[in-house]
Amino acid sequence: MKKQETNNIHPIFDRLLQRADKEQFLQQRGIVLWMTGLSGSGKSTIAQALETRLHNAGFFTQVLDGDNVRMGINRNLGFSDEDRNENIRRIGEVAKLFLQSGIITICTFVSPTIAIRNLARQIVGDADFCEVYINAPLEVCEQRDVKGLYKKARAGQIKDFTGIDAPFEPPISPDIEIHTDQLSVEEAVDAICKVLVNTITL
Ligand code: ADX
Repeated sequence: MKKQETNNIHPIFDRLLQRADKEQFLQQRGIVLWMTGLSGSGKSTIAQALETRLHNAGFFTQVLDGDNVRMGINRNLGFSDEDRNENIRRIGEVAKLFLQSGIITICTFVSPTIAIRNLARQIVGDADFCEVYINAPLEVCEQRDVKGLYKKARAGQIKDFTGIDAPFEPPISPDIEIHTDQLSVEEAVDAICKVLVNTITL
């Protein structure tokens, strides 16, 4: 892909309403909650329950989910290292747009390597990036196999499947870690909300 020439681009960021204006309007502080974990670890399930909990408490949220995004803005991307990188780069930029509108943005992507998560953190900005490790052992994810993908990966029908023949590097010091083989969905949401509440309350 050809790199975009930026010489003739004139951003108008400084003339737009600022994030603080929108946060005042929404009566909340925006944040990017970045969930990482194996396929089947529970990211999407927790994100759905968390979004409902926050919504019912009066917060304005947006979920960006791996499979959804790959049906739309990232439908041209696969699972090579290069494509995963581009997947996360675009999501990082989209999450940043939501953040700048003061929205609590919940991202659920395998985002399998330290480098790829650092890329997301760098795009969003360290101060507004909360890394949540949705941790379930590979055996548990494989046993759940909600989408039947582990079975296909073991049979060689899917290549470069995270945890099988592509790496997953666990976060070294995540802001939050949730063991989904030990907690219920509601307990997981409780644990995340406990950490989040002070940050998102204006
Ligand atoms: S990421 O690695 O680029 O962050 P992303 O979260 O967008 O992945 O998509 C992961 C989802 O795509 C998984 O939950 C699974 O449903 C599906 N998927 C299909 N092929 C693969 C693969 N080779 N590795 C991982 N997930 C895959």
